[in-house]
Formats: sequence, C-alpha cells, structure tokens
Amino acid sequence: MLHPFRPEHLSSDLVQSDKDVQEVLITAEQMSARVRELGAQISRDYEGKDIVLVSVLVGACIFTADLLRTITVPCSVDFVAISSYGKETRSSGVVRILKDLDDSVESRHVLIVEDIVDTGLTLNYLIDAIRNRNVASVRTCSMLDKPSRRLTKVELDYVGFEVPDAFVVGYGLDFAQRYRNLPYVGILRPEVYGGK
Ligand code: IMP
Repeated sequence: MLHPFRPEHLSSDLVQSDKDVQEVLITAEQMSARVRELGAQISRDYEGKDIVLVSVLVGACIFTADLLRTITVPCSVDFVAISSYGKETRSSGVVRILKDLDDSVESRHVLIVEDIVDTGLTLNYLIDAIRNRNVASVRTCSMLDKPSRRLTKVELDYVGFEVPDAFVVGYGLDFAQRYRNLPYVGILRPEVYGGK
C-alpha cells in the first residue's frame, strides 16, 4: 500500500492535541534558521533574475510565506492545488490540477515550493506540467524530503530537512486537515491514523 497514512475517511471530529505528536523532529527555531539559509542560497543563485515561486497548496503555504520573506531578489508568488485520484492511482502518478496558476509563467524562472516529497510522483508531475509552459527555468524547493519511500527519481534543488519514514505533521503539513498550525514538525502517533 502506497499511502497507508492518507485518510480516505476524513474525520471531522478528530481532536487535535500536542499529545498526538510522539516526537518533535524539527523545532520552530531550527525551521526558521533553515528557512533563512535557504532564502539566502536562493537569493544568491538567482541574483540578477526575477523569479516566481509556485507554491503547492495547502501544505506548502506556511513554508512559502516564511521563505518568501527571506528572498531578496525580485519575486512573485502563485499557487497551484493538486490532487491524486486516490490510493491506487497515486502509484501510477495520476494526479490532476485542482487549481491552476493565476498568471502565465512563460519565460519566467519558476521555483516550485513543496511541503514534502515522498514517492516523488506529485512533484515530478508538476515539474513536467510547468516545463511544458515555455518557462525560462524550473527548480524545486521542498521543506522536507522523505527519500525512503521514493518511487521515482525527482530533481530536488533545495531541501530544508530530510525526515525518516514516518508520518509527519505541523508547519503546514496535515493529517485530516488538522495539525497544520503546529509551529514545529513532528511524528504523528500511529494510533491517531490507525497505523502501527
Ligand atoms: P508524493 O507524490 O508521494 O511525493 O506525495 C507528496 C504529498 O503527499 C505531499 O505534498 C503531502 O501532501 C503528502 N504527504 C506525504 N508524506 C506526508 C507526511 O508525512 N505528512 C503529511 N503529508 C504527507
């Protein structure tokens, strides 16, 4: 099973508690310091250029907002929302765009901003979709990288932190739409999603 953690049954009565987090992996302070480093690196690499951050909703929104404020080259931001067709089709990489970009990215330097790269299928799909739009360049920046479950090679230019093979929440990442507001990234207790 590819995504044992993804709730097909969203429980609206799920109560969020700090106790649901079994281990804090990345504190708010560590995240903030790493975001500043990434922003400085991106600003150096794109010196003299104008970039557009393409942020993948909803999970990457907090990371994007923080990263954006550390980038010193001229930049704009646009959002895309993506969905898979379900557990089975995820493995085949079938994803669809639920909300497309508002503006054209033709001839622009695009930096795709993701929350976490797991199998890599979502980001690969997005890279291809953006490349087909006659852009000047495409690079990727992911807050987290979970390489243990990769199903396809994916080009990651900037990565915040590598995480182990566990379901993580916080700093934008959810389980059943909960926990996005945690200021840190932590491992969710398997009991919460019915795993082991
Ligand atoms: P991929 O196509 O398997 O790389 O899936 C990436 C997407 O799966 C991310 O953008 C997240 O929405 C979701 N995802 C994967 N792992 C986690 C996790 O540990 N916590 C929360 N969401 C996750």
